Amino acid sequence: MTKRFPTRLDVDAFCTVNRRAFLHGLGASALLTATGGLFSGGVWASPVFAAYPFALGIASGDPAPDGFVIWTKIAPRPLERSGGMPRKAVEVDWSVATDERMQQVVQKGTATAHPELGHAVHVEVGGLEPGRDYFYQFTISGERSRAARARTLPPAGAPVAQLRFGVAGCQRYEDGHFTAYRQIAAERFDFVFHYGDYIYENRVVRPGERPLPVIRVIPDEPDELYTLDDYRQRYALYKTDPDLQAAHGSAPFVMSYDDHEVDNNWAGDISEENTPPALFLLRRAAAFQAWYEHMPVRRALLPRGPDILIYRRFTVGDLVSMNVLDTRLFRSDQPCGDGVKADCREALDPHRTMLGETQERWLYDGFKNARARWTVLGQQVVVMRSDRNPDPKVFAPSMDKWDGAVAARDRLFAAVEAARLANLVVLTGDVHNHWAGELKKNFDDQSSATLGVEFVATSISSGGDGFDTNDSFKALLTQDPHIKFFNNQRGYVRHVVTPDRWQADFQVLDKVSVRDGQVSTRKSFVVDNGKSGLADA
Ligand SMILES: [Fe+2]
Repeated sequence: MTKRFPTRLDVDAFCTVNRRAFLHGLGASALLTATGGLFSGGVWASPVFAAYPFALGIASGDPAPDGFVIWTKIAPRPLERSGGMPRKAVEVDWSVATDERMQQVVQKGTATAHPELGHAVHVEVGGLEPGRDYFYQFTISGERSRAARARTLPPAGAPVAQLRFGVAGCQRYEDGHFTAYRQIAAERFDFVFHYGDYIYENRVVRPGERPLPVIRVIPDEPDELYTLDDYRQRYALYKTDPDLQAAHGSAPFVMSYDDHEVDNNWAGDISEENTPPALFLLRRAAAFQAWYEHMPVRRALLPRGPDILIYRRFTVGDLVSMNVLDTRLFRSDQPCGDGVKADCREALDPHRTMLGETQERWLYDGFKNARARWTVLGQQVVVMRSDRNPDPKVFAPSMDKWDGAVAARDRLFAAVEAARLANLVVLTGDVHNHWAGELKKNFDDQSSATLGVEFVATSISSGGDGFDTNDSFKALLTQDPHIKFFNNQRGYVRHVVTPDRWQADFQVLDKVSVRDGQVSTRKSFVVDNGKSGLADA
């Protein structure tokens, strides 16, 4: 089923002034101050805050060769309704410098934080130099945020010797500490790709309600999220985590979402609860607004009611073309009632889709024009075939993954072959385990061509401490020999990419149930240019 999306809004009209246009006229080093102006009558002129107004941290995202987005959300009492803010717009000053001490300021300005957006600020900084570090800071009424690091991408098409980036997601607050984010902060990556499950919308689990220990108790908001205020409050709780704030402050994030930003295993206008679609769209609109408010993304990603366009492409010099995909909004509903199912004929229906027709066309057109050495899909659910039933006589995949839309995977692989893409790397999350595997043209024939590789990043905290592996997971790997690695601990993946070689390091933590868990590299794989297969590092 293909969704129609209304024409893109010109959101510049009601957000901050488009400074990129100014800067082209004034020169990249110009200092300027500008305000949105439209709401000047309703601006709270001299705000006085009861507490530190940057309690939700600051962040950067969506890097480009000439800039990035910088984000904050004014919330002196982050867990209270409206973040403790009055229903008035406020003006927030921002600056970008070439040094961490914010002494060599190259740009500054003023942005308006509107109550309609929960006092979030998204400034699109342009006119910067490519391929270098910058630092940014917000101030309001004499209150100063910390200074944080961002980084521009190299010029499109230019030679790049090395790219280092991280992949993370699935950060259920109750399940453990976000220690992996502290490690990510120390990495000072070029960027971090977040595949989704930034929050969990479920009713909060209390200690004693499940076998898995509840490591952190969520205060005062136990129920499943439905309204904008519900979602805002959950984001606020997660955003107050110091390790998460440190990771955001260390590098720009490339954000996407998975299911739990809205509802477990939602698909298009179908909710987990099978709510009437017209009503689920109200909830989806609230969830998308809250997502936008809290993410360092460009104004083009502002939702319009229940619709949003988050799929987009990032080009890193001549090295990487990264396609960030949306595998939730335009997909077919999970077949055969979802879950792990054997003999699901519906999964083979040729009309099933994971991306929808428009996104598929955009992706495949991008393949045809691919100039970069490595083509990357940054997405959510596992692409490679994976039998979830350890009984060798029963093939039962998960209906939520690309196994539940076999024709969509066949079309993807056909497009990869037609474009003669030599170096396809798929980055995935969702399952709360590390996996590495090869994408076979025919998964039933292991001698068939390998079209690319897939690296699945485990969760930051979801699932608790976990374990390395067990007998039933070992059996699953035997059934699917294209899957080369499995680990069920928490962590992230570090990718180091050069023109000749891609290396993926699977980072794991011994524990997330305690603070100061120890990180180690559990396994590293490499892909050599033109080889399309995994080798041990
Ligand atoms: Fe998750």
